[in-house]
Amino acid sequence: MEKKRELYRGKAKSVYETDDPNHYIMLFRDDTSAFNGKKIEQLDRKGRTNNHFNFFIMKKLEEAGIPVHVEELLSDTECLVKKLEMVPVECVVRNVSAGSIYKRYGVKEGLDLNPPTFEFFLKSDALDDPMVNDSHIVSFGWGTQEDIDTMRNLSYKINEVLKDLFDKAGLILVDYKLEFGKYNGQLILGDEFSPDGCRLWDKETRKKLDKDRFRQGLGGVIEAYEEVARRIGCPL
Ligand code: TMP
Repeated sequence: MEKKRELYRGKAKSVYETDDPNHYIMLFRDDTSAFNGKKIEQLDRKGRTNNHFNFFIMKKLEEAGIPVHVEELLSDTECLVKKLEMVPVECVVRNVSAGSIYKRYGVKEGLDLNPPTFEFFLKSDALDDPMVNDSHIVSFGWGTQEDIDTMRNLSYKINEVLKDLFDKAGLILVDYKLEFGKYNGQLILGDEFSPDGCRLWDKETRKKLDKDRFRQGLGGVIEAYEEVARRIGCPL
């Protein structure tokens, strides 16, 4: 597969065109950003760690019957993905209160959320990713009610698979963000799943092992990502 022009450069990943019109190459860079790009640093080994992590998780989800865009690991920092037409929303599932939810609703950090909450956010750096509901998505034409139901159902199904996978590794899956897109008319999981887009705490100590270490300046960011990978059996 020949890598062609860079089509899109996000805050941590780049997407390249290939000689196949149905596939892209997704490149994980070492760039690490927080607070909508206000804090940016290069962290050694991050691109490599997240690429392997994402591939491992996507394949686990595929084995569990979730349609995913990731097809093949091409190098330490690149993977081959299906070309999707993305729905411009982010789906966030929370099992435990942390981050924006406890600030927004005044609840304490660390509360078990049962059933887990599900939220949509508009993917827009310019607008700071505002929360949106079903009605906004349908009325603005970002997706149909059927798309909404599919994204919600798949997000909850993914929760069952991943909560269990991390639990067996002594980790709590606190929350995470997913993005979906269409391939031949079918909604499938796109983007990535890595410690950049989820919160993971050690079950015993509640030590944070995700991007909150970067956001909060706690240090040991990549070491934490590597520890999670090792615990779930993901080769790096
Ligand atoms: P939040 O607490 O900031 O709303 O984030 C909830 C989870 O979703 C957290 O694990 C981070 C992830 N997330 C992203 O990775 N990118 C985003 O743009 C948003 C809104 C959330």
